[in-house]
Parts: sequence; C-alpha cells; structure tokens
Amino acid sequence: MQCRALTPARVLRFLQPNGMATMTQNPSILTINNIEVIYDHVILVLKGVSLSVPRGKIVALMGANGAGKSTTLKSISTLLRGERGDVTKGSIEFNGERIDQLTPNELVRRGLSQVMEGRHCFGHLTIEENLLTGAYTRKISRSELKSELERVYHYFPRLKLRRTSMAGYTSGGEQQMCAIGRALMAKPSMILLDEPSMGLAPQIVEEIFGIVQDLNKTEQVSFLLAEQNTTISRSGLE
Ligand SMILES: Nc1ncnc2c1ncn2[C@@H]1O[C@H](COP(=O)(O)OP(=O)(O)OP(=O)(O)O)[C@@H](O)[C@H]1O
Ligand SMILES: [Mg+2]
Repeated sequence: MQCRALTPARVLRFLQPNGMATMTQNPSILTINNIEVIYDHVILVLKGVSLSVPRGKIVALMGANGAGKSTTLKSISTLLRGERGDVTKGSIEFNGERIDQLTPNELVRRGLSQVMEGRHCFGHLTIEENLLTGAYTRKISRSELKSELERVYHYFPRLKLRRTSMAGYTSGGEQQMCAIGRALMAKPSMILLDEPSMGLAPQIVEEIFGIVQDLNKTEQVSFLLAEQNTTISRSGLE
C-alpha cells in the first residue's frame, strides 16, 4: 500500500491596486475548505488544502512538479472521478453552493470551466470548430453563436487568423489560446487554468497572461491559475 502526503502547494493571491479593501467587500466565488484527496482508495495526495478566490480576481496556485496543483483543480471541476480520485474530506463551494456532487457539465452550466494541463484541443477539428464545441452546453441562436465567436476572436486575434486551420497543425501557443477560447465560449464566470505556460516561449506566455488579465479586467472573469513557474506567474500578473 502506498500512502503519501505531499507538501501543500503555495498559494499566492494577486490583488488589484485597491488590495485588501476590495477583498472584504467582495465575497469569494470559490472556497475550498480543508480538503483531502485520495487516488485509487490508497494514495493520499492532498491533505488539509484550503484556499479562496475572491470574485473577479486572479489567484495563482504555485508549487513544484507533483505538489498537487492539477489534483486541486480537478477536485474543483470534479474531473478527479475519471482518474479514480476522490475528495474524502472537506468541502468545495462555488458561488456559495457545495459543488462536490455535481457533474463537470453541470458545473460548466453554472459558470465554472477548466482548461486542462496540456491544452487538449481536438486536433482533427479546425480552430473554429474547436471553439464551437465550447458552446455546446448553451442553447443559443446561430447569430448569438457568431457574436460569441467574435468575442473570442477579439481577445485572441491569432485564432481568427487560424480559424480554418486544423488545431493539430497549429503551434503550442495557438493551441493554448484555442483551449482558453473554447472555455470562454461557455461564458464562464470563473476559469480554472492549469499551467498555461507549459512548453511555450516567454513571449507567447506573456501574450497569454496579458489576455488573461484583460479578460479579468474587462469581463470580470475570475481565475484560479496553477503554475510551477513562479517567475512567469509573478511577472505576468503583478
Ligand atoms: N490518477 C492518479 N493516480 C495516482 N496518483 C496520481 C494520479 N494523478 C496524480 N497523481 C499523483 O499525485 C501527485 C500530485 O500530482 P499533480 O498532477 O496534482 O501535481 P502537479 O502539482 O499538477 O504537478 P505538475 O507540476 O507536474 O503538473 C503526484 O505525486 C502524482 O504522481
Ligand atoms: Mg499539473
């Protein structure tokens, strides 16, 4: 039997200029309270993890490889179950409601989307087809769908240029943008973003972090961002 408790990942909160004052007036959109996660009924990976994300803010969850960042994000989005993982203690609340028993698609409908580590675009679909899959949970008209696409292209002009290209043949940065854009098509109030910088050139990482900040500022989308590269997340967000 294998049983491991790993160092809890370090949580840093990136406050906007009005800092603490805003936080107190701003209730949390997401609260994780003292959770424990076990894989395969025996592998203890998270113990006593608590954090909160104030509404309309960007919070970065930092830790080394294997610290448990992705596990934390998957606990929230309930994708953990697909990997034989269970939240065995504690609670997770989104917009003041317990979400532990919901399915990932119910969570997307409630405004919580995850962009998984490694991008996961549909390689055989075009960029635009990938984006359209993101609106699958919404019942919207063709014209609304078109304006949603334009909204995503406004933030990611590169995607507009590559809209007819097969996603599998686009660059890593474009695929990361496609994955974030696809999450945006569900009109989330919060996005869980797992290692957006992975394997990308610093210039592209800067561009992506700039867009994340822009989305946060313009559309008040809250972000919980997992990163092992502390330099990148600090310089990109501060
Ligand atoms: N499906 C799984 N079954 C068993 N153990 C797992 C599973 N997924 C992750 N783990 C273990 O849980 C620990 C935390 O993994 P996790 O992927 O959450 O870390 P991370 O902080 O995201 O790491 P990285 O920076 O490499 O992405 C690791 O020791 C990993 O081996
Ligand atoms: Mg990870």
